[in-house]
This record gives sequence, structure tokens and C-alpha cells, in this order.
Amino acid sequence: MKSIEELIEVKRDGGSHSADELRRLVDAFVSGEMPDYQMAAWLMAAFIRGMSSDETAWLTEAMAHSGRVIDLSGVPGVKVDKHSTGGVGDTTTLVLAPLVASCGVPVAKMSGRGLGFTGGTLDKLESIPGFRVEWDVDAFVKMVQVTGLAVIAQSPDIDPADKKMYALRDVTATVPSVPLIVGSIISKKVAGGADAIVLDVKVGSGAFMKTEADARALAAELARVGQLLGRRVVCILTDMDQPLGRAVGNALEVREAIATLKGEGPADLTELCLVLGAKMLVLGRVAGDEREARDLLMSAIASGRALDTFRAWVASQGGDPAVADDVSLLPAAAHTRVVRAPRTGWVSGFDAEGVGRAAMELGAGRARKEDPIDPGAGLELGVKTGDRVDEGSPLATLFTNDPSRLDEAERRLLDAIHVGDEEIEPPPLFLEA
Ligand code: URA
Ligand code: CA
Repeated sequence: MKSIEELIEVKRDGGSHSADELRRLVDAFVSGEMPDYQMAAWLMAAFIRGMSSDETAWLTEAMAHSGRVIDLSGVPGVKVDKHSTGGVGDTTTLVLAPLVASCGVPVAKMSGRGLGFTGGTLDKLESIPGFRVEWDVDAFVKMVQVTGLAVIAQSPDIDPADKKMYALRDVTATVPSVPLIVGSIISKKVAGGADAIVLDVKVGSGAFMKTEADARALAAELARVGQLLGRRVVCILTDMDQPLGRAVGNALEVREAIATLKGEGPADLTELCLVLGAKMLVLGRVAGDEREARDLLMSAIASGRALDTFRAWVASQGGDPAVADDVSLLPAAAHTRVVRAPRTGWVSGFDAEGVGRAAMELGAGRARKEDPIDPGAGLELGVKTGDRVDEGSPLATLFTNDPSRLDEAERRLLDAIHVGDEEIEPPPLFLEA
């Protein structure tokens, strides 16, 4: 049997690992037998040399089984999970979970908190008064059985290998590796009990994959490795050169989600939810094709069934369901400021990361894991790429409880909204759907 050092040599020299070797690496690392410096060396070797789809699938399997694997077999139906690779102001889970569940596909989702300029679904949900995201696995499964959906914080015994590996990747410049990203994403979904997965791979300035070619390569490998593991994985590619919808911030995005569930949401967010939701309904076998699925989703919105499911969901996780009918029950910000266009022209594009950073400055995000967030803080964009603006016309509204942050947030936001002289077409949201 090879030593850990010999396993590192294999990858350093461009060789391939067996399933057994990858299982040993993961197990040794999680148990503490393999120290961080050895895993750091192996991660860099894997980053530089790459891995075949088979190796990636074996790594993924080993990671998924490094902790508890949730058994959702007691929940009838195909369990379809959805994941998006980061982004700014991405409100989709808040809309999709109740929308898809209202059409009969069970949603059992574990989610994360926001860090840096991207927001986290859990922080958004916790802005609903009373809403709890910390539940044990038994309570989680029960909520899915009763209400048809639950979204909770990933418990520490799920995929501990990913937690430990990601923390090392983050500080060793080994995050943007296709096999390591695929292993990280799919292993969490497999451990969470998903039968099928819909992935929204974001491309652009606000995303993790900055170019379309990189995003396509990632999407193809996600699908291939999912298939090797017996999970159906469907990917779409969407533009993240501008934030999704108009709201960026926790309670602001809950408001936006409620509006979208009533059929009154921003066009881009609504369309993305219909496209992702249709794929989930087809994978979940409640619709024969995406056209039929889309009709089901639209009738769930029009009839109020999607909003009813939202209310039931919020109540089951301890939140106040009355927010669905009275958004003034959500936390608000004491201070607002309208940001105005410095010149006349057309909005030529956004630095989505910069928009996220402006929202963070206002208190909507955290720089470090332990930082508190201000649930009422954030911003609402009044413009999209391609819109005409006049000097002094409103571009956005800032919301915060700390007025000392308004100047810096305004400066960041103005840097992140580009206004040019040329009239331009709004860019397509979907690169591949
Ligand atoms: N998202 C993840 O969960 N893991 C990665 O490695 C990258 C994005
Ligand atoms: Ca949004």
C-alpha cells in the first residue's frame, strides 16, 4: 500500500489515482492522520495536473461518505436539489423552493451562509421574524414529509471532507479547479440525499467562473461526474454580469421573493425561476416536458398556491407566515439614500461584485464568518443594462441602519454601475438553458 507521500508523488507526476487511493486520501485527511500540509501539497498537484472524470467521481464519492449521508427514501418522489454557483442578489432559492414544492416535487435543501460579496440563503431566510435554519436531520426529514419542503443549515456531520478541504483550498490558491469544484458541489448534494440536481452555473464579473469557456467546462464535468455517480445533473449557464432582480440584501430579497411568488417580481428573476423550476419538475417526474412544467409553475403562481406553500414553509420553520401578506413585518433600515446618475447615457454594464461589495458596506454581508449582519440593509437597483439614464435620475436606493456607511457605499456603487454614450441592447440572461 502506498504511503500518503507516495500518493502525493503520483499526482505530482501527472499519474492517476485508483478509487481506493482517493478514499484513503480523504479518510486520512478527515481523521487527522494526514496533516494539512500534505493535503495542501496534494491539492496543488491536483490543481496543476487535473483529474479524469473517473478520478473526480471517486473523489466525490469518498467525500460524500466522509460523514453522514441523509436518507430521504422515506419522502415519496424524486428528490431534486438545486444549486447555483454563487452570484450577487441571487434570490432564486427563496422563490424556487416553495414554487416547485407547490407543484409536488419535494425540496430538501441544505444551504450556506453568505461570505464576502455573495449573499447566503440562510441569512436571507433568517431575516423573516422567528425563522429558524438550525434543525437536526430527523426534524428536517419530517418537515419535508409534512410540508413538502425545508431549507436548513448544513449540519457539521455532513461532508466534513469538503469543509476541511475547502478551508485549505481557500488559502492555497486551489479553489478554481474544475475537478475540485465538482467534487465539492456534488459530494454535498449526494450526502444531502439528492436523486437529481439542477445547477445554475453563473458566468461573469459577479461569478466564480469569469469566462464562458470556463463555465462551460465546469458545467460539462458536473453533468459527467453526476452521471458516473448515478445522479441526473442538468446545468444551465446564466449571465452574472449584472445582479439578478433588483434587490441585493437579506430582507430586501425576501420581499422580492414574495413579490415574485405573487407574479409581481422582476422579469429576469421570474424567468430564471421558471426555467430552473421547469427542469426540476421534469427531473421530479411531475411533468413530461419543460413546456408542460412551465404551465404548471405559472398556474401555481396565478392561483396563489405557490404563496400558500411559502406561508406553510415559513410557519413550519418557526417564522411568521404573515410576512407573505404584509412585508412591513420584515426588518427595515432606518436610513435610505437615492443614488443618482452622474451623467446622461445608457447603462452599459455592471461590476456585479462591486454591487455586492456596496451592499456589504451597508451591512448586508459579512467580511469574516463571525461578523453580524444587518438584515434590513442592502440596496435596490432601479436600472438594468441597456436602460437610458439622465443626469440626476435615480440609479438605486441604499438601505442601512448605519448612516456613516452611506458615502462609501454610494462611491462603491457608482464605480460598479457603468454609464456610456452608446445605446446598447440588454444582454441575454441565458447563455445556455
Ligand atoms: N461551490 C462549492 O460548494 N465548492 C466549490 O469548490 C466551489 C463553489
Ligand atoms: Ca435579487
